[in-house]
Amino acid sequence: MVIVMGPGATRENVEAIVKVIAAAGGEAFVSRGVSRTIIGLVGDIAQLAALDLRGMPGVADVIRVSAPYKLVSRDNHPERSTVRVGGVPIGPDTVTLIAGPCAVETPEQTLEAALMAKAAGATLLRGGAYKPRTSPYAFQGLGEAGLRILADVREETGLPVVTEVVDADDVELVASYADMLQVGTRNAQNFALLQAVGASGRPVMLKRGMSATIEEWLMAAEYVAQRGNLDIVLCERGIRTFETATRNTLDVSAVPLAQRLSHLPVIVDPSHSGGHRDLVLPLTRAAIAAGADGVIIDVHPHPEQALCDGPQALVDGDLDELARVMERFPPLLGKVAA
Ligand code: E4P
Ligand code: PEP
Repeated sequence: MVIVMGPGATRENVEAIVKVIAAAGGEAFVSRGVSRTIIGLVGDIAQLAALDLRGMPGVADVIRVSAPYKLVSRDNHPERSTVRVGGVPIGPDTVTLIAGPCAVETPEQTLEAALMAKAAGATLLRGGAYKPRTSPYAFQGLGEAGLRILADVREETGLPVVTEVVDADDVELVASYADMLQVGTRNAQNFALLQAVGASGRPVMLKRGMSATIEEWLMAAEYVAQRGNLDIVLCERGIRTFETATRNTLDVSAVPLAQRLSHLPVIVDPSHSGGHRDLVLPLTRAAIAAGADGVIIDVHPHPEQALCDGPQALVDGDLDELARVMERFPPLLGKVAA
């Protein structure tokens, strides 16, 4: 951490800071320039950051040099990580296709969607049994009955299952069926849930909060990591902006940025970003071109009857093109489809 003193700062102002830092167990190194004094701080940065240094007389700015997240930071782990979900890799060498229905509705619909996903090259099946809905009157998911359907479809297709958990009390149950736990955008800063999935022993897919900065997203991942679980995949799913033509605005820059700051794999959800079927394939291409380690895509055999998010689900007619994108795009980035 570095403290930049204002041009009018006095010697007493600087000494007061040195004293406060020493009292907090840190060390302060003062460099006096022609017009400015800079103080470099060494010690327990989290503790020093909690001091009200910005409010002290003479201080112009306090700059944090090291990231506040440690376990997920790339500083301490320069190699990018690969997370394995039921044997399927998600990481720097691959582009993993996760696909399936937004919500598990019936055994037939889930199986059909899973077969569509597999035909397009998916190696992991997505599907929600617990749906976080804006309206309490909207379909909330089938709960454990939905988890059972997912487990049956896994049996039938061989696709490991990624599914959302919305309540810390359900983590054990969901983890007993799922291969990977998803924490959605609405729960991305539900710290009790993050700690519970961290302790679950299952890989975790952490979506970016719809209004979260990249730092807030990585701090959320740190909650999971802090419970001893480093099998975390970050998922950019679009953020809230002034634009209403799309459901959310896909922040493509978040992919290389999160990969530069964190060793964790980063995937993209083009379905929940664009919110419209016709945007899903262009956003998938953009995601892979930006270096995404995977994409998670909604597919539905009959989207006009879907109980959740029908307009963004790919249909049979889109799948040849999805398969072509998965075949052609990853090699351009030095990756293979997984
Ligand atoms: C789906 O995956 C979510 O549950 C869905 O996007 C929630 O949105 P809505 O309830 O506003 O339709
Ligand atoms: C989902 O993928 O089912 C979902 C609810 O997505 P998000 O949390 O990104 O809205």
